[in-house]
Amino acid sequence: MNESMAGMKRTHYATDLSLTNVGEKVTVMGWVQKRRNLGSVIFLDIRDRSGLIQVFLDENVLSQADFEKGEKLRAEFVVAIEGMVQKRGDANPNLKTGEIEVQATALRILNHSETPPFHIEDDVTAKEDLRLKYRYLDLRRPVLQKNLMLRHKVTTAVREFFDREGFLEIETPMLTRSTPEGARDYLVPSRINQGMFYALPQSPQIFKQLLMLSGYDRYIQIAKCFRDEDLRADRQPEFTQIDMELSFVTQEDIINLNERWLQFVFKKVMDMDIAIPFKRITYKEAMERFGSDKPDMRFGVELKDLAEVAVSCGFAVFSDAIKNGGSVRAINAKGMADLPRKQIDALTELCKYHGAKGMAYIAVKEEELKSSFAKFMKDEEMKKILELTEAEVGDLILIVADKEETVFNVLGELRLEVARRLNLIDENVFDFVWVIEFPLLEWNEEQNRFTAKHHPFTSPMEEDIPLLDTDPAKVRANAYDICLNGNEIGGGSLRIYQRDLQEKMFAALGFTKEEAYERFGFLLDAFQYGVPPHGGLAYGLDRVVMLMAKAESIRDVIAFPKVKDASDPMSDAPNVVEDKQLRELGIAIVKAEKE
Ligand code: AMO
Repeated sequence: MNESMAGMKRTHYATDLSLTNVGEKVTVMGWVQKRRNLGSVIFLDIRDRSGLIQVFLDENVLSQADFEKGEKLRAEFVVAIEGMVQKRGDANPNLKTGEIEVQATALRILNHSETPPFHIEDDVTAKEDLRLKYRYLDLRRPVLQKNLMLRHKVTTAVREFFDREGFLEIETPMLTRSTPEGARDYLVPSRINQGMFYALPQSPQIFKQLLMLSGYDRYIQIAKCFRDEDLRADRQPEFTQIDMELSFVTQEDIINLNERWLQFVFKKVMDMDIAIPFKRITYKEAMERFGSDKPDMRFGVELKDLAEVAVSCGFAVFSDAIKNGGSVRAINAKGMADLPRKQIDALTELCKYHGAKGMAYIAVKEEELKSSFAKFMKDEEMKKILELTEAEVGDLILIVADKEETVFNVLGELRLEVARRLNLIDENVFDFVWVIEFPLLEWNEEQNRFTAKHHPFTSPMEEDIPLLDTDPAKVRANAYDICLNGNEIGGGSLRIYQRDLQEKMFAALGFTKEEAYERFGFLLDAFQYGVPPHGGLAYGLDRVVMLMAKAESIRDVIAFPKVKDASDPMSDAPNVVEDKQLRELGIAIVKAEKE
């Protein structure tokens, strides 16, 4: 039988209590984490969202009825305990409240619990699938509670900082129009307008730009966004952006504001001092030095260009790559010359997984160079490679030859793997970098046209505008990403605010005037009515919190995340709906034919 709380009022969260409360009468309420029955005394660990407190049940202090209740308690029962705070004889240094305990004078069982499918503790061994099926239990684990509290602190800090800076929080719609560019949309069928669909927003981009046109000057929103794309550790189909837009600003203004914001939030939430301004590198430099547009700057292991040796050498894999317009680049895995053959094969597999045809290497040994391709090379060519990679005895040089894009991607991944193996990554460092001057467009093989690297509203750099007609791939954008420890945490740009330039951009993307008007007509119309110069940026809130929490996945900082196939194992979404609902929507399900 459950008891009522009537007449009892919680006085403290578990970890509000400390030695200063000794002798005080208190009431705590929470869940039984653990019970140890020593016969005439029982020890309980009581958990609430703040943490744990030990409760001591003594049959000489409690009424017989209450003590017997104590004997019935099991994990996850909900209890209310009234008692006296006392100093513990055997302090537990691992517990925030380890120096005290509550000597119970009254105990009520407010609710019973079935035995949970896994033990609720931080070192949980249960698989994530099971934990996500019972997410409401998983969320009782202290580490997840801490993560969600951290998330709350970050969003609170967003509101405090941006309010102070004169930003207005304005909501934009969730039911919007599909403007396919970028990821796939989630569609919502309309009942009233049968056959028509809304799209859930991939971001509030167009609306925030319209708010600038409407004169709101500084906009901020903690906005839910939806993208139907493949999931990864740092990607969810619905996620949250800290989304901002500002009028009458330069790129410099936006960067400065955001550096101050990041400095503010790290101080406020983590009590950490982040030095500003942050480093800045161009996209080109990021790719050439780190093989990534979101470089992890906590360690070196930079890429080296071997083109000057490769172009005329006798190893066709290298010389052909250069002749075909590709590149040959290397990284130096310092001190890894003795890596066993099996491990080198594993690195080669990693390269293949990321798209390379293979990996060449030189192990610089005291007495010789052990290499997969030395027999094709002249001595001075090998020497030149060692010189270009700053190799010393004991180093392992890893080389990839391919299309430039592939070489960058593969070596970028290899660089991370080498850093992990060499233990070069300091988990306690937060290393921010701005990546600027992104290309405006990228060639899309599948669609046989250019697509926007960022989005179609990003402006080209002034000096590159003429290239839009002659060499679109070379046009750089007024776009900037903010990266932290190898993660893209945010991105933004100065926008196009002139209708003719916007039309030119749509043309570069391969749209006819009619197609552009069909998709973005309302925006093009709006652009006739005095758009101020404007720009903005959006962070992935989940990613920011994940990195602050040192979590491995954004799932660990989202209360109810989706799993790999974009489903929710707890509620079983997505799911079928009743025929009646489909009829109202005028929708019939066509079963895909099995291939
Ligand atoms: P972008 O598409 O770069 O820009 O997104 C901004 C940031 O959102 C985060 N993010 C994601 N986080 C979790 N799951 C996802 N599926 C996901 N996709 C993106 C990333 C990214 O840096 N409207 C523009 C911003 C602007 O120009 O102002 C935009 O959405 O951290």
